[in-house]
Amino acid sequence: MLVSAKEMLDKAKAGHYAVGQFNINNLEWTKSILLAAEEKKSPVILGVSEGAGKYMTGYKTVVGMVNGMLEELNITVPVALHLDHGGYEACYKCIEAGFSSIMFDGSHYPIEENVAKTKELVAVCKEKGLSLEAEVGSIGGEEDGVIGTGEVADPNECKMIADLGVDMLAAGIGNIHGKYPANWKGLSFETLEAIQKLTGEMPLVLHGGTGINEEMIKKAINLGVAKINVNTECQITFAEATRKYIEEGKDLQGKGFDPRKLLAPGSEAIKQTVIEKMELFGSVGKA
Ligand code: 13P
Repeated sequence: MLVSAKEMLDKAKAGHYAVGQFNINNLEWTKSILLAAEEKKSPVILGVSEGAGKYMTGYKTVVGMVNGMLEELNITVPVALHLDHGGYEACYKCIEAGFSSIMFDGSHYPIEENVAKTKELVAVCKEKGLSLEAEVGSIGGEEDGVIGTGEVADPNECKMIADLGVDMLAAGIGNIHGKYPANWKGLSFETLEAIQKLTGEMPLVLHGGTGINEEMIKKAINLGVAKINVNTECQITFAEATRKYIEEGKDLQGKGFDPRKLLAPGSEAIKQTVIEKMELFGSVGKA
């Protein structure tokens, strides 16, 4: 059964580790991530962007697939199904479809409107038992066609949103989605520290987990990050393994063109990437 992300993140914050959010795009992604979590006895958050939801034909399909897999694969670790960067309407669609967690990304609204909409969603999520993530300060890079500027959040605005009763808070600290440019200045730990001081127990979320080095990840966890989102890295390892299979001509040998064979190396690669991240984030054995 899907669970809200609240308990796993509160535990992670108290225990100084982070739970990974891995985005899903299809059946193979979902299966690889769930198998990795079960094997490593780690809690896990499956992230679904609005674009990925659409790709998989809609949120109800996603809920049906994930719930079915939890049962068929005998998954015993805590799993949350989370809307990633949801707009206002998408949040309601996912609540209705059976997600166990949502992110309302109101970072592009003026702060007053972000506050008003977040407040409303806090009440709805509390009533229905879902966890809610809010965002202050847009995350740079491209996410579903929206280009963020990689701004650094205002710690006072973070405190304002945290006090509304959300369960986790994403704050821009110079992080961006996708690959980091060669001239990236790194995470702003000063900002993270200031946010952490003002928001206390609130689990903080680090988006754009791909390409942040181990040292920075560990420092961020020490400063209160309890959820780290990873997407691009799984996409890259999947593509690399698939390319290798085809370049080696394996799709032309026997029934190597069978999609179950063709997609197997990529699926295994995602699983290994997820396991590496779980080890780095410290969530192994915490389920
Ligand atoms: P990456 O694609 O950079 O790993 O970021 C994922 C993310 O933050 C999803 O919200």
